[in-house]
Amino acid sequence: MPTGAAFLTELGIRSGSGAVVRDLDGNDLLDFAGGIGVVGAGHCPPEVTAAIKRQADELLHVCGIVATYEPQVALAERMNQIAPGDAPKKTLLMNSGAEAVESAVILSRAHTGRAGILVFEGGYHGRTNMTLSMTSKYGLFKKGFGPFAAEIYRVAFPNVLRRPPGMDPEQFVGWSVDRLYDALVSQVDGSALAAIVIEPVQGEGGFVPAPKPFLQAIRRICDEHGIVMIADEVQAGMGRTGKLFSIEHSDVVPDIVTTAKSLGSGMPISAVTGRSDIMDSAHPGGLGGTYSANPVAAVAALETLALITDQAFLDRAVEMGRRLRVGLDSLAEKYACIADVRGLGPMLAIELVKDDNLTPDPDLTLEITKGTLQRGLITIRAGLYSNCVRFLPPLTVTDAQVDEALAVLDDSIAEATAP
Ligand SMILES: Cc1ncc(COP(=O)(O)O)c(C=O)c1O
Repeated sequence: MPTGAAFLTELGIRSGSGAVVRDLDGNDLLDFAGGIGVVGAGHCPPEVTAAIKRQADELLHVCGIVATYEPQVALAERMNQIAPGDAPKKTLLMNSGAEAVESAVILSRAHTGRAGILVFEGGYHGRTNMTLSMTSKYGLFKKGFGPFAAEIYRVAFPNVLRRPPGMDPEQFVGWSVDRLYDALVSQVDGSALAAIVIEPVQGEGGFVPAPKPFLQAIRRICDEHGIVMIADEVQAGMGRTGKLFSIEHSDVVPDIVTTAKSLGSGMPISAVTGRSDIMDSAHPGGLGGTYSANPVAAVAALETLALITDQAFLDRAVEMGRRLRVGLDSLAEKYACIADVRGLGPMLAIELVKDDNLTPDPDLTLEITKGTLQRGLITIRAGLYSNCVRFLPPLTVTDAQVDEALAVLDDSIAEATAP
């Protein structure tokens, strides 16, 4: 395998169940990376694996372009029902998050007849050429891979922690909204934009929630100029923040949502769900792919949705998030290197710095993730400066497992910061 496809750990995993994975030597590890936010419903939920086995005996593939089949239609209908907003909706099923975002962009262009796409610093949307062009963090994701797609405009994402000195958080959000309006003068006219694409909580960017007034401003701008508002919910959606869609924490209704990751419990499936008039903009045959809406992946998503859409599941996720936040807040009081505990609901991260000037400390962050791994807890990093530890456990994780993870984290930070 090529160097570029690097491994974050040296683990070899044999099996997984709930929040625990077993390695090839028989060691059990608590998985707070969760396949990078994919196993929201836990590793191998029995309902999901049973549905996969049934479907595998019936039909593995026929291609959603050649013919239709029940799981494809059922999943599209289900997504139309649960996506935010009252407008009639349609769903396109694809394989990956990047494909979903790229399809949403294509549809927005077809709908508006415009090319411009506005995205945000710190954003991550995937690794196809279009979505890589939209993605931020040049050194890690983009270096040497250009040329990138044209007509992409990027503005600052309001990260309250890193606001200019002397501004309080509220002023900063207002100032950020002003900068957004400025971009429509300095960078691109609203009438040239097909879409504004935002993660309501930035994932790879370090679990930074978009402030509500910022999302409201985007909605206003989209309404004023006929721009499609796309909420990229690939990481933050499907219960990760304690709601089905992270944008539901605000009163903003996007035109399109993209989902993937925890939708399929690990089976490759993604969805673009949006207003029917936008979704119907492409000509017949203009969308799709050989494997998109694969029947086995579609039944996995249907069964996963049956678990995740249960209010009790979401309530438990919120409860777990509260416990995790209390623990992380107390670690932040104990260790000066933790500059921020942030996120939305159970989608939480800590940001690590060297000093009061908030100088990012990616080396310490790496040491901490190595330390947790040695103690049997898988954690991974995030953030523009790779100085956040993010927690993406299965949302089914127990109180005891959260407490264990917090104790391991405490020990790992103590060791990594010891003089
Ligand atoms: C917000 C967001 N969008 C898109 C993607 C791309 O998804 P995929 O890796 O399935 O292509 C990711 C992946 O991490 C993501 O977090």
